[in-house]
Amino acid sequence: MTPYILVTGGTGFIGSLTTVSLLEAGHNVLILDNLSNSSPSVLDAIEKITGKRPDFIQGDIRDAALLADLFSRYSIQAVMHFAGLKAVGESVQFPLRYYDNNVHGSVQLLQAMQAANVRTFIFSSSATVYGDPKFLPLTEDHPLSTTNPYGHSKLMVEEILQNLYKSEDGWRIACLRYFNPVGAHPSGLIGEAPQGIPNNLMPYVAQVAVGERAQLSVFGDDYDTPDGTGVRDYIHVMDLAEGHLAALNYCLENDSELLAVNLGTGTGYSVLDMISAFERSSQRRIAYQIAPRRPGDIASCWADTSFARKKLGWTASSGIQKMCDDAWRWQCHAAATKNG
Ligand code: NAD
Ligand code: UFG
Repeated sequence: MTPYILVTGGTGFIGSLTTVSLLEAGHNVLILDNLSNSSPSVLDAIEKITGKRPDFIQGDIRDAALLADLFSRYSIQAVMHFAGLKAVGESVQFPLRYYDNNVHGSVQLLQAMQAANVRTFIFSSSATVYGDPKFLPLTEDHPLSTTNPYGHSKLMVEEILQNLYKSEDGWRIACLRYFNPVGAHPSGLIGEAPQGIPNNLMPYVAQVAVGERAQLSVFGDDYDTPDGTGVRDYIHVMDLAEGHLAALNYCLENDSELLAVNLGTGTGYSVLDMISAFERSSQRRIAYQIAPRRPGDIASCWADTSFARKKLGWTASSGIQKMCDDAWRWQCHAAATKNG
């Protein structure tokens, strides 16, 4: 029987869409998720899109007994580790929660992998590990620094992975540094469903467009950028999913590997660019007001994508209009489902 790819956090935004890509590529997928930030209904959507239903275990990556049982019952070829908490502001308020979930949880998972002799690991890292960019575009050898517990938890796991790689033969590890994942599955059936008020720009914009929120606050228009608003490298989540497949294939083809790779498009867009693109997709006006800068935000951030292209043979293909079209389709679907 084909061995499984274990996808932790696989009912979440990026994990569920990577599961779609894995299933479509012929992999068997086992999802482990504690549903702290997702719904099991996403399994139905995955099945509807792919015609296949991934195996699913509801549980926590910090539960050592559960992990030992899982690795003894399933033949696991590789682990894609998405499970974690991701809200920067919340991490400042509750740092221990973030270190426990993101760092301790990752250590528990790696220990279970070690015991089961599974040594291929794809980790959801973040461009946040670069801190305030000293130069652009950001290459993988840009100095690393973080300004909040969330970012620090990602950097700590990257460092733990380096130590582990040096300590023992046979580990094949890819730390994928995501830039700003947005968009949704083109069917509109799976997308980002933040609980409460969205922290991130694009879910907020989508909720204004659909009429769930009155207006967007644009955090600062006095940055040193072409229009004064923050510039980011937005990447379509399906491109990101394909990047995971490329990293998995690369790791499986090599005996031993430790990679840190940017997953971005290489192009930066401002907040106002994204608002305009979303207005075109939705054919709605997005009301906004200029608000003070958000503490901790940087002016600009975009990726150098040449290493991903050379090493993994992967590049992102979708532009911002496709990202907004797909996000809008998802937002309309989500609103229709909510309203019965
Ligand atoms: P998400 O919240 O939609 O998905 C994370 C999933 O992990 C959720 O389904 C949640 O229920 C689950 N989970 C959390 N803690 C768990 C635990 N202890 N045990 C089991 N399951 C647990 O987030 P996402 O946007 O899909 O992000 C996935 C990963 O990518 C995260 O590690 C995040 O830090 C990282 N990342 C995300 C972004 C982004 O902007 N979305 C950017 C860079 C990196
Ligand atoms: N923004 C607004 N209004 C909002 C929300 C955001 O103007 O309501 C602006 C921000 O100031 C920034 C841009 O939109 O200029 C993007 O902000 P996001 O919150 O969407 O994304 P960030 O770049 O701040 O952070 C995201 C993730 C982090 C991750 C980082 C790098 O939230 O977890 O990308 O990958 F670390």
